[in-house]
Amino acid sequence: MSTGLLEAALSPDDAEAVLPLSVEAGWNQNVADWRFMLQHGSGIGVRDAAGNWVASALALPLGPRFFWLSMVLVTQAQRRQGLGTRLLRRCLEDVKARGAAAGLDATELGRPVYLPLGFRDLYRISRWSIARVGTAPPLLAAVSVRPATPEDDARIAAFDAPRSAMQRGYILAHLRARRPDLAWLAERDRAVAGYVVGREGRAATSVGPIVADDEAIALALAGRALGAASGPFLMDVPDSHRALSAWLRDAGATAPRGFMRMLHGEAPGLENDRHIFALAGAELA
Ligand SMILES: CC(C)(COP(=O)(O)OP(=O)(O)OC[C@H]1O[C@@H](n2cnc3c(N)ncnc32)[C@H](O)[C@@H]1OP(=O)(O)O)[C@@H](O)C(=O)NCCC(=O)NCCS
Repeated sequence: MSTGLLEAALSPDDAEAVLPLSVEAGWNQNVADWRFMLQHGSGIGVRDAAGNWVASALALPLGPRFFWLSMVLVTQAQRRQGLGTRLLRRCLEDVKARGAAAGLDATELGRPVYLPLGFRDLYRISRWSIARVGTAPPLLAAVSVRPATPEDDARIAAFDAPRSAMQRGYILAHLRARRPDLAWLAERDRAVAGYVVGREGRAATSVGPIVADDEAIALALAGRALGAASGPFLMDVPDSHRALSAWLRDAGATAPRGFMRMLHGEAPGLENDRHIFALAGAELA
């Protein structure tokens, strides 16, 4: 590493100091997002001689054998010197030492760094920028949608786990509590049939995850969340969900950016995006 650069662990108290890295990349995270991720995950960074963070990476647990890697950022002036690879390798070594697998959603800039480290492609995701909301088609009478409450947290986590192949109940409960207006639950015969949660961001309100039994329910949930807050919004939608993508396009949304979901090691079910209609954002899986 070049002289003057020092590697160090990131703590939740570093949230404000590290924020300029994601702002410089044009990303949507705010201080609350960084703090939450650094509280629950392990972050590592590189500081320059003046004490400013110039690079970061972090690993968030999504179960005992699965970690989500995110916030891989290197400031423009320090790129192409191996810092991104170095921090990601560190995170990956920790994950492997626990006998676990690692997933991530790669940007176009990130994917060339991850491929040589042994990550493989799972599926494509488009980031939709949404200025205005379309009307969702009506749902079958058997399915009802209502605001999610704290009492629903455990049911949402239990519904999510087998469909997402992640144990991320603490993330979903955090988002439900943080933005109750974006949190909705779909039920059929009193059983959970889908949910949506979301959060405010630096530049746009992020809607997701949306996990549902089918696309009609996902559309209804998206309509409720998008209708409950003021935009602009963003939603990360797997490309396989054509009806949802078409609904967004018809409402004037655009998808200028994409991600590739990638996996290192084994996480059975992660490749299946059938019930995943929107992500929690690339950084929260
Ligand atoms: C992606 C990012 C973290 C890479 O950081 P970095 O420190 O520049 O990466 P490295 O120096 O470790 O690059 C390792 C290798 O990846 C490949 N690579 C890195 N950036 C590349 C690019 N823009 N185009 C093509 N290959 C690239 C090269 O093979 C490179 O090795 P080389 O420089 O010897 O040719 C940095 O570009 C960045 O912060 N981008 C903006 C945020 C972002 O998109 N992060 C990824 C989130 S998934």
